[in-house]
Amino acid sequence: MIDKKILYHIFSSFVMFVALSSCSRDKADMDKFVSELMGRMTLEEKIGQLNLQVAGDIVTGDAQDTAVLSEIEAGNMGGIFNLKGVGKIRELQEVAVNKSRMGIPLLVGMDVIHGYETIFPIPLALSCSWDSAAVEEVARISAKEASADGINWVFSPMVDVALDARWGRVAEGSGEDPLVNSIMGRAMVRGYQGDLSRNDNVMSCVKHFALYGAVEAGRDYNTVDMSRLRMYEQYFPPYKACVEAGAGSVMSSFNLVGGIPATANQWLLNDVLRNEWKFDGFVVTDYASINEMMAHRVARNKKDASCRALLAGTDMDMCSRGYIETLKELIREGEVTEDDIDVACRRILEAKYKLGLFDNPFKYCDTTRRQTDIYTKEHRERARAIATETFVLLKNENSLLPLKKKGRIALIGPLADTRSNMTGMWTVAAASERSLSLKEGMEKALEGKAKLLYAQGCNLMADSVAQADAEFGKHIKRVNSASAGLEALRVARESDVIVCAMGECAEMTGESSSRSDLSLPDEQMSLLKELAKLGKPIVLLNFSGRATVMTWESEHIPAIMNVWFGGSEMADAVSDVLFGSVSPSGKLTVSMPRNVGQLPLYYNHLSTGRPVEDGEKKFRKYASNYLDVRNDALYPFGYGLSYTNFEYYDFIASKNVLNSREDSLIVSVRVANEGNMNASEVVQLYVSADCFAFARPKKELCKFARVEIPAGEERNVEFILTGEDFCFYSNQGVYGYNKTYNAGTYKVMVGPNSAELSSVQIELR
Ligand code: NOJ
Repeated sequence: MIDKKILYHIFSSFVMFVALSSCSRDKADMDKFVSELMGRMTLEEKIGQLNLQVAGDIVTGDAQDTAVLSEIEAGNMGGIFNLKGVGKIRELQEVAVNKSRMGIPLLVGMDVIHGYETIFPIPLALSCSWDSAAVEEVARISAKEASADGINWVFSPMVDVALDARWGRVAEGSGEDPLVNSIMGRAMVRGYQGDLSRNDNVMSCVKHFALYGAVEAGRDYNTVDMSRLRMYEQYFPPYKACVEAGAGSVMSSFNLVGGIPATANQWLLNDVLRNEWKFDGFVVTDYASINEMMAHRVARNKKDASCRALLAGTDMDMCSRGYIETLKELIREGEVTEDDIDVACRRILEAKYKLGLFDNPFKYCDTTRRQTDIYTKEHRERARAIATETFVLLKNENSLLPLKKKGRIALIGPLADTRSNMTGMWTVAAASERSLSLKEGMEKALEGKAKLLYAQGCNLMADSVAQADAEFGKHIKRVNSASAGLEALRVARESDVIVCAMGECAEMTGESSSRSDLSLPDEQMSLLKELAKLGKPIVLLNFSGRATVMTWESEHIPAIMNVWFGGSEMADAVSDVLFGSVSPSGKLTVSMPRNVGQLPLYYNHLSTGRPVEDGEKKFRKYASNYLDVRNDALYPFGYGLSYTNFEYYDFIASKNVLNSREDSLIVSVRVANEGNMNASEVVQLYVSADCFAFARPKKELCKFARVEIPAGEERNVEFILTGEDFCFYSNQGVYGYNKTYNAGTYKVMVGPNSAELSSVQIELR
């Protein structure tokens, strides 16, 4: 009798062999096809493939307008982006296929950041669900909707680790932790791309490579400068994870990396991305970033900038028209060769081949799918359910939440009755006005069982010009603050409980939305303080796309829930949680600061020579601390409450010694739901090295599990750890740093958040 394991082994080797040989056959077919095609293309047509232009009406930088149709017909465009509507897209595709000499179809891109028409919570909020399966589903649904409307390429995921909440684009990523960004990024790539032979999957574009999240002082488009070790440890892992998940394209970032713009950075794009990580897709610039090299003062003119970008490994030029205008001349001058252009052109044609566009250029132009695949009941139900997982309950004194559907409830604040601000930033395809406002959602949920009294109460901010800048078109009614405030106080006095919908408006985060003050804006803060004086129970629903400062609120407001921006179904989802049909289960993926001066603030910081423990309240002279604020977060990374109570016990490791990279052990912990409501808990595991040649963070997230535990039940949560989990980047390799296995003593810590952990000691030999 042959052993079952051996049979399994033979079978899987055979499957692997078949998969690999069909893979190389596919690759050989693709190579042959693309070579034959390129053999018939003129130099101009090859350069045309490297040109990407906006064809819609969303312009975010210093781009040049073009007459799109004639450019496509002339073979001067490889792709277009941010054009909505399958009809219009089909027209352009027809010109490319039927009127241009080579008939090469277009890549059709879009910023599909957190949904297409069905909008999901902003990515930062999604990461607070710690639910990678849900995040993958979000991307799958987004791909289905986008592809039904003509899109074949999405500029997502953004996996820029961000430690400074002043940066508005914190909203677009998964927070401060490299592991969380890696897991969520990978899930999105899988969700978007799935099986590209289908017509409801799209190619993903990982961005912004690299380090965009580290802009100094959180000011958008600002300088970045950091050590290579830090890049490898803290910033690179998510991009690498997405590449390993098979992302078809990567977008270079606006910023400098080691003094050279990412778009012209040979080390970054060729050495690290292609040679070390084996990325085999194409690299596209961010919006007009070839042009921006002149403003960076690293290129004299567009020709110089284009030359450097191409030679560094940038294949496609988004909106600078640098390649289309200067590459021919650069060839004549001998600065670049036709081979350099061939390399880039081949990668773009390969992407089109992988998408199946050469088999059927109209694969994504099925005009009937709009009716069946977009903004469906099913998608919206999933968006509502997923949104409920993203809210983070930060405080709930005397179990004020959930609210009962009875009596009189006051709903106050500038975010309470604005439909357009529910979906959040950067929703190119959404019809935001279609969403219910919170007021409408709560009224619906109350079914007449309680009376909802509403007052806007104040403006988003006192300065109307500043408010208009922040709103960016998603207008919130201006009111006379004195009379609106009095009305809010009257409504509040007449009510049993006050719900405040306050915070940032949707476009106060995202691109070009950096802030230097992260407190509740002026008028809102004053009104909240007046309401607090009434001594009634108050629930603050904090709308935000970043970590905000809520130090005063944490002392004076009994219940606080961060609701971020929850997408098109946010109003229903907030009502589900507010009235207790679902327990909140989100946990922070960003540390909430006590004040802006603490930024950048993140839990996995390095130790200093004069350390101060997290939690130390008193100032110590000549230690690494501030005179006027503690070091630690107001609400730490990983933190979030539930309507139920989870107890952790029996935390054990199956053994305490690991002998090699491959050796493994299991740590387990029992988690009991001691309340009377079914709920989910995110169990977190951190590691820390006792001592190492290079400084290590005091703790680093290593594993996590989101577990559903019915009321009164408990679950045994197990994590497998191998020697690999204790490997760090330390020794210099060919391109950058390599990971090494390091003998020594480590702590493995488990708990409900980064500040409440139990630990066991492990030895690596
Ligand atoms: C600029 C942004 O940085 C990037 O994220 C986006 O994909 C492009 N514009 C295209 O709109």
